[in-house]
Amino acid sequence: MIRLGVNIDHVATLRQARREQFPEVVAAAHAAELGGADQITVHLREDRRHIQDRDVELIREVIQADLNLEMACTEEMVAFAKQINPYVVCLVPEKREEVTTEGGLDVGGNQDAVERTVGALKEAGLTVSLFVDPDEEALLASNAVGADAIELHTGRYANARTEAQRVNEFLAIQKAARTAHELGLRVHAGHGLDYRNVARIAAVREIEELNIGFAIVARAVFVGLTQAVREMRDEMLRAREAGGLDL
Ligand code: PXP
Repeated sequence: MIRLGVNIDHVATLRQARREQFPEVVAAAHAAELGGADQITVHLREDRRHIQDRDVELIREVIQADLNLEMACTEEMVAFAKQINPYVVCLVPEKREEVTTEGGLDVGGNQDAVERTVGALKEAGLTVSLFVDPDEEALLASNAVGADAIELHTGRYANARTEAQRVNEFLAIQKAARTAHELGLRVHAGHGLDYRNVARIAAVREIEELNIGFAIVARAVFVGLTQAVREMRDEMLRAREAGGLDL
């Protein structure tokens, strides 16, 4: 089985563009759930540019699907996570000027801060995932700081300009998924996945979960969110059932 986490930050981005009260993010979470989302993923950024605290609180209260709270390694966010008690917390790097999360968390380079954050969250009974690039050093560091899971950054695969590059990036993800699995970490993946590039990643058996946002919300403009989620889920399940794809 492979789970789908639907990232609905972009619904909040649309609302915040006009500082309006709609579209309502918890309604989007409900529509995604109807389409078969196993999980709702939101990134509460320090600058609150899209998702607001209220959105997370409402999703936690109203939605049956699991909640994946993406956040930075700060005391403010740890306190908020403890209050919300999500299904999983995914720690991500955060730069104010970036358009979206650009690279994976530098776990080795920030070992003390990451270890402290992971420890505080786990002490509160929370499950912790780290968003990392698909390289061995990051996986070993993630294991060393006590993470339960890692989410492999698929951005370089998604943005590859040639098929040869894409194959190389795919092989790095496949290798990282196997290494992480052998270390005993649960393996998730995400960023930049869309209806065309998802199949290869979904076929990697060690990957238990994909978190996908932009492509689904973009398709939802034309077909509605429930349908867009259903189509992504079908695509993932088809690829997983078919097994490894020819490269
Ligand atoms: N996973 C993480 C950790 C992310 O930061 C994001 C983007 O917010 C996603 C998954 C989803 O990426 P996309 O919107 O490109 O599908």
